[in-house]
Amino acid sequence: MDVFEKVQKLIDHIVATEIADMESLEKFRIEYLGSKNSIKPLFAEIKNVDNSRKKEFGQTMNTLKQTAQDKYDSSKLDLAKVAQSDEAASLDLSLPTPISGIGSRHPISMVMNRLIKIFERIGFAVAEEREIEDDWHNFTAMNTPDDHPARDMQDTFYLLNSTEHLLRTHTSSVQSRVMTTTEPPIRIIAPGRVYRNETISARSHCQFHQVEGLYIDENVSFADMKQTLMYFAKEMYGPETKIRLRPSYFPFTEPSAEMDVWMGTDNDTAKRLTKGTGWLEVLGCGMVDPNVLKNCNIDPEKYTGFAFGIGIERSAMQMYDISDIRMFFENDVRFLSQFNSVI
Ligand code: DAH
Repeated sequence: MDVFEKVQKLIDHIVATEIADMESLEKFRIEYLGSKNSIKPLFAEIKNVDNSRKKEFGQTMNTLKQTAQDKYDSSKLDLAKVAQSDEAASLDLSLPTPISGIGSRHPISMVMNRLIKIFERIGFAVAEEREIEDDWHNFTAMNTPDDHPARDMQDTFYLLNSTEHLLRTHTSSVQSRVMTTTEPPIRIIAPGRVYRNETISARSHCQFHQVEGLYIDENVSFADMKQTLMYFAKEMYGPETKIRLRPSYFPFTEPSAEMDVWMGTDNDTAKRLTKGTGWLEVLGCGMVDPNVLKNCNIDPEKYTGFAFGIGIERSAMQMYDISDIRMFFENDVRFLSQFNSVI
């Protein structure tokens, strides 16, 4: 067998070699690519090659070397791929993930949910609406036209370059949304976030939450409103709860009132929240102004109704003894994790 045949046989052998695991890969490397590999001695055979074929021999030897290197590289790559898919196959995807702490309800949500449940029990349905409102639904329909001084009661965030769109200043905007789209009888409760351009302090914030209530039907009276609010106060604050209605003013109700709940002056939070009077202001309410009904295409000769708006933050502060409203919006886990209800 001449040397050319010998080299070609070796090339064929290398190509046909099976490399099935890391061990045979390493064996292969030592055999053909290591410092004492079996290819090296073949170079010495050049002295037995005829001068005219020396160049050809050099090329054949290069092919041999390259074949060994290619075989090694591709086998290594193949083995790595197999190892990877083996690892994937050994993963048990049905195993449960470790639990890394369950979150809890935000105290504001807890108070809102409790309130919603109280009203759902007497037939009110939840209505949710947009936070970006138009001027008409937030103000005009609610009997607060452009030049009305009551607009100053609520410092409004308008959208950039707009006199038409704003962040709703109260959930009363849901009243006009529902009244323009629903036939009475209407009995809704509308929880949500509202915005006002106010200086942020321990007592007030530029965003807060309200729950709006609206009841429209034939023959709805002020007495109905008072009974409903009385029921709410007792459910919310306990059966012995005392309330008082103070005459007030809102553009969308006539007559209007504010409801206070007796907190007493025994503890510091009650004293602070009631400014020392013992009475906590809980909501605004009143009989829906006939103008509002008219604006929303409801016949004020046939229907009457009452409405109320409850501020959530103040109640939550009183219930959980929280002294600074800003805590609700900082999302500090050390604060939030103290509330462990999941209701
Ligand atoms: N929208 C009023 C406010 O944000 C609260 C309010 C008062 C709502 C009287 C009502 C109501 O529905 O009848 O201050």
